[in-house]
Amino acid sequence: MKNQQITIAIDGPSGAGKSTIAKRLAVELGIAYLDTGAMYRAVGLKAHELSIDFSDISAIEMMLEATEVDVVYKDGIQQILLDGKDVSVRIREHFVSKLASDISAIPCVRIWLVERQRKVASVDGCVLDGRDIGTYVLPNASFKFFLTASLKVRAKRRFDELIAKGMSADISKIESDIAQRDHNDSTRDFAPLKKADDAIEVDSSNLGIDEVVEVMLKKVKSKR
Ligand code: DC
Repeated sequence: MKNQQITIAIDGPSGAGKSTIAKRLAVELGIAYLDTGAMYRAVGLKAHELSIDFSDISAIEMMLEATEVDVVYKDGIQQILLDGKDVSVRIREHFVSKLASDISAIPCVRIWLVERQRKVASVDGCVLDGRDIGTYVLPNASFKFFLTASLKVRAKRRFDELIAKGMSADISKIESDIAQRDHNDSTRDFAPLKKADDAIEVDSSNLGIDEVVEVMLKKVKSKR
């Protein structure tokens, strides 16, 4: 299989390191990377900025009709464009995590974004990270991984990231927010966070980034 034809799904709960690992894997294999969570974040941010009530489904549908979410690369760095405007930094704000999780439970939002995600994945080889890539977006992905880590480890990593950025952080609040998002994402009705039956589970609690990438690359290379 040529690299250009490979699709790799990396699903798992919040803070397991999916995007860091997916990015690295994509570079190692010379294929594209798509952060699907960023797309939910952009849509959640827009609905919030328009003061749309998330229970008002027709307002959400109308909003989607007038929305563009694009993922582009500038100097090798992924940028998320919302209606042509770069929101890559904005969507990482803490409050947007909850908005993304809430809006991702709405079926019309998922259907709208999944169509765009499949389009990106169909052009070239791609690593996609998210919650439902292996189960719903790309059920025939060439490789599926389910990346986990204990709640404590995930909360500590987020905490360290924020401290490294010079921001203040409360580890127990981070832990409860992550637990809440895990619950939201895995209990929604439509395409919840779930390990695909044929996904390989990788627990990164005691592994560094390089080790996780190595485990995944080994699997990919052994089957080609
Ligand atoms: O990966 P992330 O933390 O940026 O994702 C933000 C939210 O988006 C997450 O809580 C659930 C949702 N999401 C989803 O439902 N399906 C995906 N494929 C990716 C993200």
